[in-house]
This record gives sequence, C-alpha cells and structure tokens, in this order.
Amino acid sequence: MSATPSAGRGKLTVPDVLATKRQRSTGEGPRLACLTAYDYPTAVLLDEAGIDVLLVGDSVGMTVLGYDTTLPVTLEDILHHTRAVRRGARRALVVADMPYGTCQVSAEEAIRAALRLVKEGGAEAVKVEGGERRGDLIRQLVDADIPVMGHVGLTPQSVNTLGGFQVQGRTIEAADQLRRDARAVEAAGAFAVVLESVPREVAARITADLRIPTIGIGAGPDCDGQILVFHDLVGLTGPGRPRFAREYAQLAAEVSQAARRYCADVQGGQFPSDAESFHLPAGLRDRFPVPSHS
Ligand code: KIV
Repeated sequence: MSATPSAGRGKLTVPDVLATKRQRSTGEGPRLACLTAYDYPTAVLLDEAGIDVLLVGDSVGMTVLGYDTTLPVTLEDILHHTRAVRRGARRALVVADMPYGTCQVSAEEAIRAALRLVKEGGAEAVKVEGGERRGDLIRQLVDADIPVMGHVGLTPQSVNTLGGFQVQGRTIEAADQLRRDARAVEAAGAFAVVLESVPREVAARITADLRIPTIGIGAGPDCDGQILVFHDLVGLTGPGRPRFAREYAQLAAEVSQAARRYCADVQGGQFPSDAESFHLPAGLRDRFPVPSHS
C-alpha cells in the first residue's frame, strides 16, 4: 500500500500529489508510483495494487492500437480509454493525455479538448507535452480549473522534430534548456511534471529546483515519482521495450502459451468438456442424443 496522504482515506487528489513534494523535501514522504492504464480491468488491478496515478497516455497508440508513433491518436481515442480507466479507478488520480493536435492550434481549442476529457472522460487532470513554449497554454488551462501535469525531455509528440526517440539534455546547453522548461511548466501552474529520457544528473537537479513533484521515466532514481508504460512493466511490448523499463512479468509468453493450448484443445476436441456444457433437463435428454464420438 502506498503511503501518500490519501492512502486509506479514499481518493487521491491533485493537492495530495503536490503535498508529496513537501513531504519529500522534509525527507519523509514516499515516492509517487504511477503507471499508464488504458482499460477498465487493468485500472481496477493497478488501483487495488496502490498505484497513485493512472495516466491514460497517448502511448495507447503504440501499445494497444498498433501505430508506430503517438501522432495518430485522437481526442476520441483518449476519451474512450479515459472513461474505461475512470470507471476502474477508486483511489488513483486519473490523468488523461492531451493528444497530438489538441495543443498545437490555439489555446481555445486546447481548453475545449481538455474540458471534454474532464467532463466526458472523467479525467481529474490532463498532461501536456512541452516546456517553455507551452507555458501560456498551461496557465490558461489551469485558469480554466483544469489541473495540468507537464511533460518535458523526450516528448514523443515531437518525434519528427527531434528525429527519433533519443535521450534529451545531454549537453550543458540542452540540460540548461531542460531546466528552463521544467521551471516554466511549474511557473505556469502545473502540479507535477514528467521528465522523460533525460540523464539522471539533470533529472536530480531539476527535482531539487522545483516545488512540484517530478515523475521520471528513463530519468533515474532521484525523481519524486516514477512512471512506466504498463505494457513494458508486464512484458507485453516485445523487442521494442526501452532499456530503462524493468519487466516485472512476462505476460506475452503466458498469453501465447494459453492461446496455443486453447487452439490445440479446440482442434483436438478436448475443449469444451461435458462439464463445461449446458444440458437439457434429465427427462428430455434422450430426445436429443449426443453423437457417440463426442
Ligand atoms: O503516453 C504516455 O504513456 C506517456 C508516459 C510515457 C509518460 O506520456
């Protein structure tokens, strides 16, 4: 069980997440344990396991929908998955990603999209990719009573600009820009910020700089929390799993094995058995005799 402020007291809120930073700066609080989730049964399991934040990430495009990048993911996709996750989350804070296209045109369009994620999807906060250049937008979302989680470092929606999914902030200039990005996100009113694929040393410095919690993914152990993509955690990603993701289960092998056994049982007539079948009442059975080879 996680020991964040609301543990044992019901729903985790945005102020609870912020409070973890204060606790951690006095050396007391635990780190935030966050995961992505895209569906109801997974949300139920992760919530019961004590996960603090369930992110309906646009990684759903790659993990579940089979795209090569997150760019094709639509607002309707995120809404659909957020509704399912929200129904399964009793305690965890549910954060929905702002998919590519919702933050790029105008603040008005972004606010409308975020409002839909809150009103129709049940999200309690949204996540916005980008640092300094998203400061004004984050401020306007927060002014519209929509809590925002920032996301700096490797921002997958910028894959075409960045030229791939590489580690960010590896030169002094780039590390300084990352620090400015994280500070800008905080100054704009975000309640937490994801640091993705950045050197440990830079993530540690940003974590010390900020009054809001940092949530790392490929950013080393010094952040205030960690997040992983659920499919990486349970071994459903295959060979594309990033180096920083630890596999806690090997579900791909389990699922594949189950499907092969089922296939063989059906083909060989071992499934279903008589005990797995419904029957007519005893007095009527001789009217429909089953074939002797069954
Ligand atoms: O979409 C996502 O899953 C994310 C996490 C990797 C932070 O943005």
